[in-house]
Amino acid sequence: MSSESSIAKHYTKGNLLERLLSTLRDDGLELEQASVETLAPYDQFHGRGLEATKELADALSVSDKDHILDIGSGIGGPARYIADRFGCRVSGIDLTEEFCAVANHLTNSLGLENRVTFDQGNALDLPFGANSFDGAYSMNVSMNIADKAGFYAEIIRVLRPGAWLALSEIAQGPGGTLDYPTPWARTADASFLATPQETRDGLSAAGFTDIHLRDTKEETLAFNARAKAMVERGGKPPQRAVKLIHGELAKAAAANTSRGYADSAILPIEVFCRKPDR
Ligand SMILES: C[S@@+](CC[C@H](N)C(=O)[O-])C[C@H]1O[C@@H](n2cnc3c(N)ncnc32)[C@H](O)[C@@H]1O
Repeated sequence: MSSESSIAKHYTKGNLLERLLSTLRDDGLELEQASVETLAPYDQFHGRGLEATKELADALSVSDKDHILDIGSGIGGPARYIADRFGCRVSGIDLTEEFCAVANHLTNSLGLENRVTFDQGNALDLPFGANSFDGAYSMNVSMNIADKAGFYAEIIRVLRPGAWLALSEIAQGPGGTLDYPTPWARTADASFLATPQETRDGLSAAGFTDIHLRDTKEETLAFNARAKAMVERGGKPPQRAVKLIHGELAKAAAANTSRGYADSAILPIEVFCRKPDR
């Protein structure tokens, strides 16, 4: 099995739309009444959910004329948030066919289909011409990608000169050993973590400039502590996408990731950089 199909298999449990609709109903929410914000616990499939997407967006300058690329768009929570907030167009690309179908369904339900679309595709072979986008972002995707040089080369190709790139991802930390499964990989041999320095060097080698990188460990530990306290008080956790998507696997995956953050085996990072003007 190619690594692309094993990644899609990792993320595909089947009947995702039916399971999502039934979870929403159990939680007292009908899709017809849903908004970008009320769907966020379910469709923001990365650490700190909507909080991390808002933080990323706060650092961006986007106009309603812009066309933005979401690489590894999942079921589309980040793309709908960015389009809704800035009034721009967003195109999402994801390897996992079922995610694209669910992402488009949710987008239609929210009436955003004229500005937000999702297509099945590979980040290493983006189906777009050179200089197509005013900006691109990718949230919690690079951990599935061994060929980081190929990943960065494709992104810089499709960005217009001067366009920005924002990454929110999980880096290799300086601490202990990470246990698997995690939300992105069942076993260590399917996980490709780069250190913050390797990420910075890789982006620079690809031609990106103005690279700003910071770790968000403090925010992540605080978010996880708040989520734990909410559950202990009998409430629902603020981030339910991992459970929805991975079912049984979710408990061990979430526990391993939390332990990984606490031990510094992994480090959440945010990166902002730019394609040079010429
Ligand atoms: C943890 S999910 C994050 C989804 C979304 N970015 C979000 O934050 O809600 C990782 C996503 O990356 C996608 N992915 C992994 N490798 C990819 C590749 N080479 N090309 C496109 N998508 C990829 C997976 O299918 C999955 O949807």
